Amino acid sequence: MIVDAPLVPTHVRRPLVPGSLPDGTVVSSNSARCHRDRTGEKSGRHLLSGGLPGTQGRVCRSPDDLVMSGDSTVGEGVAPWFPHEPVMVAEIAAVFADLAGGTFLDATLGGAGHAAALLAAHPAVHLLGIDRDPAALRAASLHLGTGDIAGRATLRHARFDAAASVVIGEGIGSLAGALFDLGVSSHQLDAPDRGFSYRHDAPLDMRMDTTSGPTAADIVNGFDEARLARLIADHSDERWARRIAAALVAARPITSTVELADVIVGAIPAAARRSGGHPAKRTFQAIRIEVNGELVILRPALESVLAMLAPGARLAVLTYHSGEDRIVKEVMRAAETGGCTCPPALPCRCAAVRTAVRVRAPRQPGAAERLSNPRARSARLRVVERISAAGAEN
Ligand SMILES: C[S@@+](CC[C@H](N)C(=O)[O-])C[C@H]1O[C@@H](n2cnc3c(N)ncnc32)[C@H](O)[C@@H]1O
Repeated sequence: MIVDAPLVPTHVRRPLVPGSLPDGTVVSSNSARCHRDRTGEKSGRHLLSGGLPGTQGRVCRSPDDLVMSGDSTVGEGVAPWFPHEPVMVAEIAAVFADLAGGTFLDATLGGAGHAAALLAAHPAVHLLGIDRDPAALRAASLHLGTGDIAGRATLRHARFDAAASVVIGEGIGSLAGALFDLGVSSHQLDAPDRGFSYRHDAPLDMRMDTTSGPTAADIVNGFDEARLARLIADHSDERWARRIAAALVAARPITSTVELADVIVGAIPAAARRSGGHPAKRTFQAIRIEVNGELVILRPALESVLAMLAPGARLAVLTYHSGEDRIVKEVMRAAETGGCTCPPALPCRCAAVRTAVRVRAPRQPGAAERLSNPRARSARLRVVERISAAGAEN
């Protein structure tokens, strides 16, 4: 099993890890415990030394009595609102059923639904959770700071392509397991002020990390027509990408989600709008993927985390669209074959490459979950396992 070096106390603000985002903040789930005060009100403190913007000294509430304000940057006295139903929780629990201890990396912590379930099932495991969204970290800190699992998580504000740096910065030698649950959370999609959805009128933002990076407005108003058309086609298979790009350029400046949706809808022929859900859905997804560089950073992130798995440890990845699923499949296959592309039956120079990992067949959610959780409908779970030293010799 892996050697789990002692973690740096979570209340210490660490210097920025190379490749991480500007904040580099430590969030301690220990300090996020809520308690009943004498008046019977539930309250608590986020005592985040060097905490994320706006969290220091905040009074919080427990997740079950949150105000459903839809405000992701909640004010004093209100804890973060985080509606998100984690996908394939039972299947992921089964993948990691034999975790004996060590550090588990959740590279897309979100509201910590998966993370909390894994911590509850494995009392000897410590969680290292990262997310690029400060609002997600605030919600996760609250979630992981209560009950039996409190005090067993270290949370970091970082992009997952900096995961290896974060792991090394914590003095962790290897990982007992890792999870990537890709894409956006329901919280991000549903928060009216984040600009991810055509359903709410909001400034064109769409950044998962609200502290840095270009916004959707920068892309929609700044890219030339050909580049816009290419990104819409590449990230969403939108058939009308060129017409939409031309309409966007003609309508500039576009500053709100509703304006953007109206221009997209107007660019698609009426007959084509009648099926396939909201006509702006695919273009919104494409712009979101571009804003957050989702596909560009995925491959290096997966490769670096795979390299940090202890013998016998597994990496599970949940994808929600074909572009990201293709990358996950390629990375796992390349790890399995050692980069050899020769047909398996033929002798070749790379036949001697020892397989270091084993890839499991992809899985999808069951019918009941697909019915009850719309987000699960497009989900696909891929798992790769680093073969233990004994396994590699067989
Ligand atoms: C689908 S949600 C994860 C939900 C989580 N599994 C749960 O149980 O609540 C995806 C999360 O990953 C985060 N995320 C997406 N891309 C990221 C990246 N490149 N680096 C770090 N976090 C990322 C998003 O901000 C979001 O909070």
